[in-house]
Amino acid sequence: MLGVLVLVIGVFLGNAEGVKVIVVGAGPAGIAAATTLLSQGIDVTVLEAEDRIGGRVHSVPFGDAVVDMGAEWCHGQKNNVVYEMVKHLGVLQSSNYSASLFMSDRKVVGDQLTSDMHELFEEIYSPDGNKKQEEGVTVGEYFIKRYNESARQKFSGKDLDICLLSLDLMHHYVQSSEGAFSWFDTSANSDYRNCEGDLSLNWNGFGYKTALEVLMRKHPRVYDPSFPIQSKIQLNKVVQKISWDDGVNVSCTDGTFHTAKHLIFTPSLGVLKYKHRRMFSPPLPRHKVRAIRDLGIGAVMKVLMHFEKRWWPEEFNGYSFVWTHEHRDMLIAEFTKGPSRYGRSWLLNFMSVLPLERNPNALSAWITGDLVPEIEKTSNETLIDGLHFALDKFLGHKFNITKPDKILRTNWYANQNFRGTYSFQTTASRRMKDPSSNEILAEPLKNVQGVPTVLFAGEATHSHYYSTVHGAIETGRREANRILHFIQDAENELS
Ligand SMILES: Cc1cc2nc3c(=O)[nH]c(=O)nc-3n(C[C@H](O)[C@H](O)[C@H](O)COP(=O)(O)OP(=O)(O)OC[C@H]3O[C@@H](n4cnc5c(N)ncnc54)[C@H](O)[C@@H]3O)c2cc1C
Ligand SMILES: *[C@@H]1O[C@H](CO)[C@@H](O)[C@H](O)[C@H]1NC(C)=O
Ligand SMILES: *[C@@H]1O[C@H](CO)[C@@H](O)[C@H](O)[C@H]1NC(C)=O
Ligand SMILES: *[C@@H]1O[C@H](CO)[C@@H](O)[C@H](O)[C@H]1NC(C)=O
Ligand SMILES: *[C@@H]1O[C@H](CO)[C@@H](O)[C@H](O)[C@H]1NC(C)=O
Ligand SMILES: *[C@@H]1O[C@H](CO)[C@@H](O)[C@H](O)[C@H]1NC(C)=O
Repeated sequence: MLGVLVLVIGVFLGNAEGVKVIVVGAGPAGIAAATTLLSQGIDVTVLEAEDRIGGRVHSVPFGDAVVDMGAEWCHGQKNNVVYEMVKHLGVLQSSNYSASLFMSDRKVVGDQLTSDMHELFEEIYSPDGNKKQEEGVTVGEYFIKRYNESARQKFSGKDLDICLLSLDLMHHYVQSSEGAFSWFDTSANSDYRNCEGDLSLNWNGFGYKTALEVLMRKHPRVYDPSFPIQSKIQLNKVVQKISWDDGVNVSCTDGTFHTAKHLIFTPSLGVLKYKHRRMFSPPLPRHKVRAIRDLGIGAVMKVLMHFEKRWWPEEFNGYSFVWTHEHRDMLIAEFTKGPSRYGRSWLLNFMSVLPLERNPNALSAWITGDLVPEIEKTSNETLIDGLHFALDKFLGHKFNITKPDKILRTNWYANQNFRGTYSFQTTASRRMKDPSSNEILAEPLKNVQGVPTVLFAGEATHSHYYSTVHGAIETGRREANRILHFIQDAENELS
């Protein structure tokens, strides 16, 4: 009787019955893949290395609101799956940052010059605006040349001096946009596309995790407690080995094994760079190894600072900092704590401070460049003293700068589960075309029967929205749909 019943159910559900999928990683891509599969009745298990979900979306209570250690803004509106998913919920708002520039010699940079320089920056560099570039040129090579030429055409005298001194700041902007340690690492030409519309929508003090809550139907506006996603996620499961052939057999560092028909792998490009050789058995094909090697990932660092008393004014849209040559060279003797390179202090990597929504006593400090891995390792005390020193240097004549009473700091590069912040295209990666390196990274591994067995999602596998949350979510859905289509095709063949 039981046997007959099982048979009947089996036919009813078709081949989906008994199909099990493992998703590695509970970041945006993994959650998008798992929720897509689960909503189609597929049995999923999500294995997540950290003790939390979200991956590079990491929103935490701090000060008066929730702040983001990772992704912070929804970049754009049109064709942006995050924007589409939440636009009716009223959870996003415009940020309109317009950082004022401050010089270490305390010369005043006028509003007009600031906005002219900003315009010049955007004229020369836009993540998706360099399409006319010849291949093989880095952003750094391209930018320095164009900036030098245009600045000399547009400005003269003191304005030109300030503009030329600001080249370092321009470098920081590019580093933070690309997540690269240097603008000589990134290709001037790229496949990246901006979504049209507002490029820096914020979550009004509730954090980017709002988007994941909507995906998981946990947000109050779309609440569905019967959707069992939570129970499918296992935390503290560090996947160590993925053996695949007729299905997959995964081992975790805690000694557990997990088997399934298909596996969707979502950890970052940084994790792949460091671990793929030990992780996959049989090893990854050569063209995928090459894509992993050639694509780039670096890191930016955020330090969220809370002050007992707000020392900056009501009207505040961010401050960015420019060192004069003289102060740059003196700095290493004036502030001796923390890492340095070639006689240059880590404080030169401190780019700007930005406001935080609904958090009147808190600021976020952005640190970029190739010293980030070392700055991630400095003590809280050095970090606090250094940021205080630099803020006082630039702003001390205007405000009574105090030390923060609380900080939160990121370590995306040091963390074995990330090894970086977001991916970018290098000139080497761009030697591959149709498919591009990102597309090669996305190709599934099929077994001898042609079954897509190990599938790849995650921001770096997106052909043009790589480095973003909306890109990551699209890739998770893409791979879930690949499995669903495979099941559908197999069913059609049977019937
Ligand atoms: C500082 C910072 C700022 C950013 N700002 C923005 C922004 O403003 N807007 C935007 O759109 N994007 C931003 N991003 C990028 C965005 O966060 C990422 O593109 C996106 O989160 C990538 O999602 P993912 O699912 O591909 O990878 P992840 O979020 O990295 O998820 C992968 C998951 O896999 C887990 N994992 C890793 N190794 C293992 C293992 N061995 N076993 C099991 N699990 C493992 C990880 O713990 C992680 O949870 C930012 C990122 C950072 C770090
Ligand atoms: C945004 O910018 C406009 C001017 O462009 C300004 O009037 C407005 O106050 C700004 N909003 C915030 C929140 O700073
Ligand atoms: C900038 O342009 C000036 C004059 O054209 C030139 O002398 C100088 O070498 C250029 N600097 C850089 C960094 O290209
Ligand atoms: C998975 O691999 C482990 C270690 O090789 C082995 O002991 C176990 O039997 C395998 N499980 C399956 C279902 O193949
Ligand atoms: C800073 O503090 C000092 C003494 O505490 C005070 O005299 C001074 O006016 C303050 N300056 C500003 C800009 O608030
Ligand atoms: C540094 O500050 C963080 C909070 O950001 C805290 O969790 C950590 O314990 C501190 N480390 C030390 C060594 O005090």
